[in-house]
Amino acid sequence: MTINKAMIGPFNEQIKSEFAASAQYIAIAAYFDEMSLIELARFFYRQSEEERMHAMKFIHFMLETGDRPTIPGIPELKNDFSSPADAVQFALDQEGTVTDQINNLVSLSINHSDHSSNNFLQWFVTEQVEEMDTMNTLLQTIKLAGGNLLLVEEFVRRNPQHAGEALSGE
Ligand SMILES: [Fe+2]
Ligand SMILES: [Fe+2]
Repeated sequence: MTINKAMIGPFNEQIKSEFAASAQYIAIAAYFDEMSLIELARFFYRQSEEERMHAMKFIHFMLETGDRPTIPGIPELKNDFSSPADAVQFALDQEGTVTDQINNLVSLSINHSDHSSNNFLQWFVTEQVEEMDTMNTLLQTIKLAGGNLLLVEEFVRRNPQHAGEALSGE
């Protein structure tokens, strides 16, 4: 095994968080889709794909370093939102939680001098900066639009850099 044993449990937990985030973003996408807010729906469907990709990165890394990951079930998710701002605020809070989790994983890897895990996790450190910025910008846009959600739709459509990696081609 190339990584420290102490990383295995927390890595499995992270796989669960990433899959949960993926499913949560589908719930948020469906909320927007039902409102015929197509761009916002598309944005969250894409975010969902990204989160699945994050989970897969952890799965491949664990297998590569000599451990079989535990594939988790999906926990209960939030499906009801009081407003579009509420849904995006929820997404932002979720990203904040994931950022804390990634930071904790990095600290753990440092404490165990696990450079393989640390190197692997740096990609996620960068990714979370991006994700927090993206979600924060979207929330601010919704607030600035003052209830005119068609303005938000236009913003999301015209700002592919704020519409996830799938659009920017990364
Ligand atoms: Fe993620
Ligand atoms: Fe994310």
